[in-house]
Amino acid sequence: MNFDGTQILIGKGAQAEVVSYQGYAYKIYRSSYPSEWIGFEMRQQKALNEAGLTPVRYYGTDDDHILKMDLIDGTTLEPYALAQDPLSFKMLAGAFAKIHEVDPTGVDIPPLAVTAGMGLTEENQGIVLPIIERLCAKMPSRICHLDMHFLNVMVPRGLSHLSEDTEFTIIDWINARLAPAVFDYARTYVIFEEFSKEALAVYKDQVLPQMWTQGVTEEDFADAVKACFIMRQREKN
Ligand SMILES: Nc1ncnc2c1ncn2[C@@H]1O[C@H](COP(=O)(O)OP(=O)(O)O)[C@@H](O)[C@H]1O
Ligand SMILES: [Mg+2]
Repeated sequence: MNFDGTQILIGKGAQAEVVSYQGYAYKIYRSSYPSEWIGFEMRQQKALNEAGLTPVRYYGTDDDHILKMDLIDGTTLEPYALAQDPLSFKMLAGAFAKIHEVDPTGVDIPPLAVTAGMGLTEENQGIVLPIIERLCAKMPSRICHLDMHFLNVMVPRGLSHLSEDTEFTIIDWINARLAPAVFDYARTYVIFEEFSKEALAVYKDQVLPQMWTQGVTEEDFADAVKACFIMRQREKN
C-alpha cells in the first residue's frame, strides 16, 4: 500500500492514524499492533453493518496494518461538545438508544462475559466476572458499543450547530459486545470520569436519566462502573 503524498490526516487515536485518500479513509495502525486484532475489527464492523448500525464498510489492503474504510464526509461530535452545544449530550443519549433498541439475535459479536476476563489478574477476574454474571441474569443483553464518546460519533461537516434531526454515524466498533445496556452507560461514565469532571456532571444530568428508566438500580450501576473501571485499567497497561 503506497500513498502518493495526497493523503490528509483526519484522525488520530491511541493505536492508529486515519487519513483520507482518493475518496476513502485509511486506518494505519502502529506496527506493534497485533494484526489479528485488525482482523477482529473487520469482522466486528461487518456484524454491525449487517445489524444496520453503521453504513461504513471496511476493506482489507495489501498491508496487514492498514484498513480501508468508506469515508465519512464529516466531523466528530467533539468540537460541538467543547463549544457546549446543548444537543451534543442529547445526541450521545440518542446514539445509545439507537444501538440498544436493535434486536441482538444473530449479531455475530462476542458476549462481554466471554472476553471480559482476558488479561485480568485472578483477583480482578473475581470482581468483574461475578458482576457481569449477576447483571446478565437480571437484564437482557443488547448490543453495547463500549467506547461511546464524542470522538466516536460523526456528524455531517460544516454545521454551525447541531439540531434535533442531525444525522449521526457511530464509528469504532472494536469494543462492541453483547451485554446489558448498563455496561455501555458505565463505560462512558468511566471515560468521562477520567477526562473531564465537567462533562461527567452533564452526562449524569442529561444522559443517565434514560438508563434509570430501564430498571437499573444504583447498585447495578455502581457494579457496572466498578467492572468497567477495572477493564479500562487493563487496556491502558
Ligand atoms: N470512516 C471514517 N471517515 C472519516 N473519518 C474517520 C473514519 N473513521 C475514523 N475517522 C476519524 O478518525 C478518528 C479515529 O478513528 P477510530 O476508528 O475511532 O480509531 P481509534 O480506534 O484510534 O479511536 C475518528 O475519531 C474520526 O475523527
Ligand atoms: Mg475512536
